[in-house]
Amino acid sequence: MTQTELASGVGEVLIEEQALQARIGELGADISADYAGRDLLLVGVLKGAVFFMADLMRELTVPCEIDFMAISSYGAATDSSGVVRILKDLDINIAGRDVLVVEDIIDSGLTLSYLMRNLRARKPASLEICALLTKPERREIDVPVRYIGFEIPNRFVIGYGLDFAERYRNLPYVAVLHPDLVPSA
Ligand code: IMP
Ligand code: MG
Repeated sequence: MTQTELASGVGEVLIEEQALQARIGELGADISADYAGRDLLLVGVLKGAVFFMADLMRELTVPCEIDFMAISSYGAATDSSGVVRILKDLDINIAGRDVLVVEDIIDSGLTLSYLMRNLRARKPASLEICALLTKPERREIDVPVRYIGFEIPNRFVIGYGLDFAERYRNLPYVAVLHPDLVPSA
């Protein structure tokens, strides 16, 4: 870790770049085998999933398309309802399609739970989730996740798409936010 990164808020590295890329290769192979003979539509959740999705897609050997959604959760007071607002909807009609939602991280599960309800109502042929990271300790609602990259402890992480105040998404590894910057819960 460089002095600059330390000063800029990067704490302990949890998942090195090589480990990330190796695991994404495995996920890509699993997904390619499971969807053999079908066309896949990857739905990325902006913005964090962009980096993971770009690398994952390059490991797929099945024909695939991508589309994106942007969603925002309401404030802490209404978080428990799992109500989220759609800021950008899909361009593509997913009826009859094999859809794989690609997420950076599942925390409480509320965002994804709402999103899955919303997407299921559009009658895709199949609907599954691939999440790079999950924090099982934080789960408030059960979300069936078909593909998981890594289980991580309950710590705030940055890098490889994950941000703190919109920064650090461009780190090629996943690290914890430096303790000095962790917002008090
Ligand atoms: P959930 O609805 O609680 O599962 O929220 C998931 C979303 O919260 C993710 O898509 C991230 O945008 C954000 N998030 C959760 N944990 C972290 C973290 O450790 N670092 C950065 N963003 C996080
Ligand atoms: Mg996100």
